[in-house]
Amino acid sequence: MAVALQDPVDTDVAVRLTGLHKVFGQGRRAVTALDGIDLSVGPGEFVCLVGASGCGKTTLLNLIAGLETPSSGRIELTTSRPAVMFQEHALMPWLTVNRNIELPLRLAGVGRAERQARVAELLRLVKLEGTGGKRPHELSGGMRQRVSLARSLASAVHGAADGKQALLLMDEPFSALDAITRDLLQSELLRVWRATGTAVVFVTHDVREAVRLGQRVVLLSSRPGRVVDQWDVEGLGGADELTAVDTISAKLREVISSHAAA
Ligand SMILES: Nc1ncnc2c1ncn2[C@@H]1O[C@H](COP(=O)(O)OP(=O)(O)OP(=O)(O)O)[C@@H](O)[C@H]1O
Ligand SMILES: [Mg+2]
Repeated sequence: MAVALQDPVDTDVAVRLTGLHKVFGQGRRAVTALDGIDLSVGPGEFVCLVGASGCGKTTLLNLIAGLETPSSGRIELTTSRPAVMFQEHALMPWLTVNRNIELPLRLAGVGRAERQARVAELLRLVKLEGTGGKRPHELSGGMRQRVSLARSLASAVHGAADGKQALLLMDEPFSALDAITRDLLQSELLRVWRATGTAVVFVTHDVREAVRLGQRVVLLSSRPGRVVDQWDVEGLGGADELTAVDTISAKLREVISSHAAA
């Protein structure tokens, strides 16, 4: 059953999704990807979305980003245009690392000196100093994903600088990385999030990652996606964190197996 959040006051919300439905295709071929999503994200809130493969997580992010249109339901944003970090890195192969990172700033009309300063800072942040002149094919997969992170941060932070709240949508950004790099980037992301007050919607199928990063974890059911449960996981540590991971993993397994049995 869908769990609707308490209705927040308008100014108190970065994203509000109401009765969101998404159907792909028509007639017998129609696939209902999302079946009535009610979800709000507060300003500066870090929300993690978990759910089985194919439950509609990417679709949900694409709808919030405006890359897809909903079949019905409402999407309200009080933020600047969302920055997106996709499941695959989506870098421009013909541009250098520097050029890729500065692209959102260039499109927003930020001057050259400021762009260079920002890019240098972001490269340091994702531990890629010295690679600014390379092209994506010269980098490892993990390095490309870090460039992609830097680019989405450039875009998100710029949005915030414009006076509006920033919103960062991240689709399994660290899933292809080795454990050490992933750990490092998770910490960096949290640091940047705290420093900028950007609202984040972060999709992952890794419950441990969701509990570590998020203030709230939202579980979607298997296709069609609905919000089945959510947990406040802010500031958990030690045994409490492990318990939360166990509880959410158990519920996720339940959702996956009930789908498989259907
Ligand atoms: N453009 C499209 N046309 C038709 N069907 C689509 C399209 N995009 C997604 N779907 C279908 O919608 C459902 C949800 O897909 P989506 O990519 O949102 O899942 P997901 O939760 O992100 O999965 P994963 O964890 O594997 O990335 C799937 O059944 C998928 O096949
Ligand atoms: Mg996906």
